Amino acid sequence: MNGYFITFEGGEGTGKSTQIKLLEEYLKSKNKDIVTTKEPGGTEVGLEIRKLLVCGDKDKFDATAEALLYFADRHIHLTKKIWPAMQQGSIVLSDRFADSTFAYQYFGYNKRLSKEVLQQLYQIAVGDFKPNLTIILDIDPKIGLERSFNKAKNMDVKELRFEGREFEFHQNLRKGFLEIAKEEPERCVVLNADKSIEELHKDIVAVVSQRLGL
Ligand code: TMP
Repeated sequence: MNGYFITFEGGEGTGKSTQIKLLEEYLKSKNKDIVTTKEPGGTEVGLEIRKLLVCGDKDKFDATAEALLYFADRHIHLTKKIWPAMQQGSIVLSDRFADSTFAYQYFGYNKRLSKEVLQQLYQIAVGDFKPNLTIILDIDPKIGLERSFNKAKNMDVKELRFEGREFEFHQNLRKGFLEIAKEEPERCVVLNADKSIEELHKDIVAVVSQRLGL
């Protein structure tokens, strides 16, 4: 495939969406063709799946049901949006991808679900495809959750199903993202997200520019 796929990962309230917008503007100023998207909910059908997943009671699905829904959303996302955009040569920026499933549904729930099951689901939904670059925004969950709850005050529909989980869940998933980065150091770059928006943007631009040879 001609394009380039960059994913942004991290726990709650790391500032991913703000940073993706800034990176999109920067790359467009360099005449790059950019598609920004997100998971869950990068497609029309995906938005329906997103509502099921992020709203409502925190115990309405177990980790297996959640993983199945996230991979269903991801398969639609890949086939309808990500792969077609990459075929056209675009750089695709996605707010979350499969590392979130490993971090949330595996590490977050304290490894209640087997990693092998998730790997099988990955093969079915995604195959051998992987992001070219994954930027993991790392922050103390205390700070991240506070940011997230403040943001939700201005939302009509409260997407707080995961924020409602116990603090240990958020600590586990932070550790999970760091473990994923250690396993795949070529693909993953961890950045400290406890910084000003401008400072973090500079760090992201430095990583992306180096990878894209800008
Ligand atoms: P967002 O708030 O970053 O848009 O993500 C929606 C929520 O879904 C967030 O709490 C993280 C969670 N999530 C998972 O648990 N597993 C996944 O695979 C993905 C993509 C998101």
